[in-house]
Amino acid sequence: MANYSINSVLHHHPMLLHDPVASPLRPVKVFTSFHSFPSSCTVNHRSLHVSTARWCCSASSCSSRCCFRLRGCKWKQVVRSCSITDIVIASDESYGNKQVVSLTPRLYGYVLKNVREPEILRQLREETASMRGSQMQVSPDQAQLLAMLVQILGAERCIEVGVYTGYSSLAIALVLPESGRLVARERDPKSLDVAKKYYQLAGVSHKVDVKLGLAEDSLESLILNGEAGSYDFAFIDAEKRMTQKYFELLLQLVRVGGVIVIDNVLWHGKVADPLVSDSKTISIRNFNQQLMEDKRVSISMVPIGDGMTICRKI
Ligand SMILES: C[S@@+](CC[C@H](N)C(=O)[O-])C[C@H]1O[C@@H](n2cnc3c(N)ncnc32)[C@H](O)[C@@H]1O
Repeated sequence: MANYSINSVLHHHPMLLHDPVASPLRPVKVFTSFHSFPSSCTVNHRSLHVSTARWCCSASSCSSRCCFRLRGCKWKQVVRSCSITDIVIASDESYGNKQVVSLTPRLYGYVLKNVREPEILRQLREETASMRGSQMQVSPDQAQLLAMLVQILGAERCIEVGVYTGYSSLAIALVLPESGRLVARERDPKSLDVAKKYYQLAGVSHKVDVKLGLAEDSLESLILNGEAGSYDFAFIDAEKRMTQKYFELLLQLVRVGGVIVIDNVLWHGKVADPLVSDSKTISIRNFNQQLMEDKRVSISMVPIGDGMTICRKI
């Protein structure tokens, strides 16, 4: 028996459930590249058990059947064809047997192959990959969605809370018009240096108002400066226990019809696991719940990356 991150298993060992497992006790060393989290996962001779989601899978043959149950939810996963994937079907009849695709390593690889990632973003991603905290940057498909939202909105004034080495902010800056401005705030000087270098390399420095410091202080200053209601788009990707605070400040800064996107709303699946009750998970869970009842915005929770909710100010 060994402990693994569920992500490690899903993203880096796609054949695990079909591989013959030589020894139930032999550990397989795997690492994550997109996210990491400490969900408990045990692998033994013929099965994979993941504590957070309560998978139960037979690894014995291609026609294996998998079931996926979350307490209180009526969804099941059925394995089709030869891969452990594929489709989650609502067993609640009121969903009309709606089939929802599950993201597997193979399918996610396919998604990534269909992302048009600008060369400069690829270089930044690769440089960041060797840095501490590299799993924090948004994935290329997320960045592409953020950039598209900015373009659809015709946004000129944007804010990002939590820059890290700049992957998402650069994706936004690249699609801003020459007259556009992105207010970007980050508290870590080392990662911010990388971000600044790439704004330069990409020729977008003039569009990015980047400062070192606590985002909440900057947002309060912008409000005091009379900039409320003047922003088109905001992206929240910083301290997860502060999301509600950032959201309240940004809701003042964004105009009616403007958009606020919040990252990590699925928190590696922990939000849906009643057994997980650490402070970050509880904060995100509470935030999601309050957003459901928040009449100031229309919302759409999108299972991309670690989950993003798109909010439009009403
Ligand atoms: C998830 S990372 C951001 C990733 C970035 N959006 C990207 O795609 O590369 C979160 C960042 O928020 C920063 N951060 C956390 N709390 C902050 C705060 N209160 N003010 C400013 N930055 C903060 C952290 O230092 C970290 O670099």
